[in-house]
Amino acid sequence: MSTFLWEPSFEVNIKIIDEQHKKLVETVNILYDSIVSGESSKVLFTIFERMVEYVTFHFETEEELMVRLSFPGFQEHKHEHEECTKKVLEFKHKFENGEKTISIELISFLVDWIHHHLLCVDMKYAAFFKEKGITPRA
Ligand SMILES: [Fe+2]
Ligand SMILES: [Fe+2]
Repeated sequence: MSTFLWEPSFEVNIKIIDEQHKKLVETVNILYDSIVSGESSKVLFTIFERMVEYVTFHFETEEELMVRLSFPGFQEHKHEHEECTKKVLEFKHKFENGEKTISIELISFLVDWIHHHLLCVDMKYAAFFKEKGITPRA
């Protein structure tokens, strides 16, 4: 079962970024399924840690691309990434301290954040590249 369905409207039309976004959505679904099927906290934490690593990798990919192509909204975008990372690390910290209710709260944060970030924030650099006639190869 999926809690979060991929929609074509999420696409920024940059192959590598769309692939990474899809993978992020997939990971959130795996985490959700594992919570629902009652996996142990150890398993959940391992999936979560992998997801944190992937989010970091994804942000780096986008930031490199924005710098390389002189996107004017880079600082603002980077700040959004930093805020998300901070929040995710707070969850990680709570997880490590044995908080049990964390899981569903985390999923709803991630789903909301991905929706907002993909549809509002990532679309800005996509629109900029398109406007400039750039087809980035990340
Ligand atoms: Fe982004
Ligand atoms: Fe993104």
